[in-house]
Amino acid sequence: ALRVAVLASGRGSNLQALVDARDAGDLAIDIVGVFSDRAEAPVLERARRAGIRATSLAPAGFARRAAFDAALFAAVDHVQPHLIVCAGYMRLISSAAVRRHLGRMINIHPSLLPQYPGLDTHARALADGATEHGASVHFVIPALDAGPVIAQARVPVLPDDDAAALSQRVLAREHALLVRSVALIADGRIDCDGGHVRLDRSPLSAPLQL
Ligand code: GAR
Repeated sequence: ALRVAVLASGRGSNLQALVDARDAGDLAIDIVGVFSDRAEAPVLERARRAGIRATSLAPAGFARRAAFDAALFAAVDHVQPHLIVCAGYMRLISSAAVRRHLGRMINIHPSLLPQYPGLDTHARALADGATEHGASVHFVIPALDAGPVIAQARVPVLPDDDAAALSQRVLAREHALLVRSVALIADGRIDCDGGHVRLDRSPLSAPLQL
C-alpha cells in the first residue's frame, strides 16, 4: 500500500476522512505518520486514536524556517512516505524542503485555485461577491498554493452566507475530494511529471471536478 505521511496544524477532519476511508476499505494506503507544528493540535489525538504515530515539533525552538523544516522533514523522511499530504498544515514550507519532495507532496486548499491562495479564503470570496467557491487539491511547489491542481470541488455561495457557513459547506466537500485524490495517486492513476499533472499517463488539461 502507498505509504502516506500527513502534515496538519489543527482540527484534523481531513486526516479523519483519510482514516475513515482506509478503515472502510475504500483507500489502500498506510498512514505512516502524522506531523504537526502545534503540540496542542486536536489532529494529534485523532491520529493516536487511530493507532498512527503522531509527532509534533514547535517552530519556536528554531531560529530560521529552513532549520525547522530540516528537522521536521527529517522526521517525516524517517517514516519513508511515498506521499506527503498537507491537510490543514498552516505553515509555509521552505523551498528547499519542497524541492526535495517535488511530485510527492500534495495540499488541500479551501478555494478554487488559482483564486484566493493564502489565508482567509472564505471571507475574501464573500467580500468579492463570488457566486461560487470551493476547494482544490494540488501538488506542492515552492510558490504558495500555486502548484498544479489535481482536482476541485465547487459549492455555491448563498445570499446569507458568512465565512463560517461558507467554510462549512466547503469542508463538507473537502473530505471526499481529498480521499478521492489520494486514491487516484494510490492507484497509480495520477502523478506529476515536470510540473504537470497526468491522469493515466496523459496530461490533465483541466482539474478534475470531484
Ligand atoms: C481545511 O479547510 C483545509 O482546506 C484548510 O484548513 C482546513 C483544515 O481542516 N487548509 C488551509 O487553509 C491551508 N492553507 P481540518 O484540520 O479539519 O482538516
